[in-house]
Amino acid sequence: MAEREKRYRAAITATEHFLPERVVTNADLEKLVDTSDEWIRTRTGISERRFLAEDEPTSKMAIAVAEGLLQRRSLTGDDIDLIIVATITPDMIFPATACLVQNAIGASRAWAYDLSAACSGFVFAVATGAQFIESGAHRRVMVIGADKMSTVLDFEDRATCVLFGDGAGGVILERSEDGESGLIDFELYSDGSNVECLNIKGGGSQHPPSHETVDRGLHYIRQEGSVVFKFAVVKMAEVSVSLIERNGFTGADLKLFVPHQANRRIIDAAAQRMGLAPEKVMINIDRCANTTAATIPIALSEAVNEGRLQAGDLLLMTGVGGGLTWGSVLFRWGN
Ligand code: UT7
Repeated sequence: MAEREKRYRAAITATEHFLPERVVTNADLEKLVDTSDEWIRTRTGISERRFLAEDEPTSKMAIAVAEGLLQRRSLTGDDIDLIIVATITPDMIFPATACLVQNAIGASRAWAYDLSAACSGFVFAVATGAQFIESGAHRRVMVIGADKMSTVLDFEDRATCVLFGDGAGGVILERSEDGESGLIDFELYSDGSNVECLNIKGGGSQHPPSHETVDRGLHYIRQEGSVVFKFAVVKMAEVSVSLIERNGFTGADLKLFVPHQANRRIIDAAAQRMGLAPEKVMINIDRCANTTAATIPIALSEAVNEGRLQAGDLLLMTGVGGGLTWGSVLFRWGN
């Protein structure tokens, strides 16, 4: 593919994540719905997930990530130009959760907005934020994925309530100092033709909150699992292979693949189609479950903490989710 026009490369210069303290095991969920630890582990790869305290909102996790990012990079809020928060569980319909983060960290110069692309939210937000670095418009962009999925789970629906968790993760994007490391390329897609298979219908302008919408459970996430499963298996591999190949690489060139963590079987199938050795695939679904926009930045932050990325390494991050949406971003890791 022809090199996209850009003045600078957008590099990830800091990573951070936040996981709530409270651990909810599969055994805990066995007490709520007709399920089993065995079914959840073998069908999804999930053993446990974290839930945020009931009285704490998504911004609590996003702010913890933002503060950690500043600390890791020895920056203050004033150094940040733009904050993007990818979330489908904002504190309020508006203002954006990103504005709450902006205020909390004293990023008085920054503009801030939320991006809604469900499980693809983080890769969409990273690609978007990078444009402001590449064009020279901004020097530092904070990109956070944060979701408190426990607030939209129907604990009477075993098909969904066992799948999700709460969490947040994020990165700072800055101009690459060496001009080599940073975002190489991205490939992003949306297909709004199958809204029915994954959604939260209530609470918006189509079904404004009412006693009736609550009685019908329209404020909960609903999913046709097997439809989304088949779509995710195909698209996660397809977009990942397409992006690495059009940039002249193969799976063997990748150091780390950080996929959205929705189902261990989806990840394994994608990794197999890409010919990736297991040690190249970041997996934490067993401990964190599906935290929607937060899975990828949490997994990336954990990988960085474990020393799994060195300067020059190729990193691929891929999301698939509601919309439907899907896409990949390809980075060369910097110092
Ligand atoms: O992040 C957003 C994108 N989301 C995804 O990528 C998720 C994609 N989908 C999936 O991961 C899988 O489809 C699920 C994990 C949601 C479901 O796995 P599956 O292998 O597709 O199972 P299924 O929905 O076909 O259900 C198989 C059986 C059904 O019983 P019958 O009809 O065969 O008797 C379900 O009722 O498993 C039953 N079942 C459960 N059993 C015990 C569904 N949920 C549960 C449960 N515990 N929690």
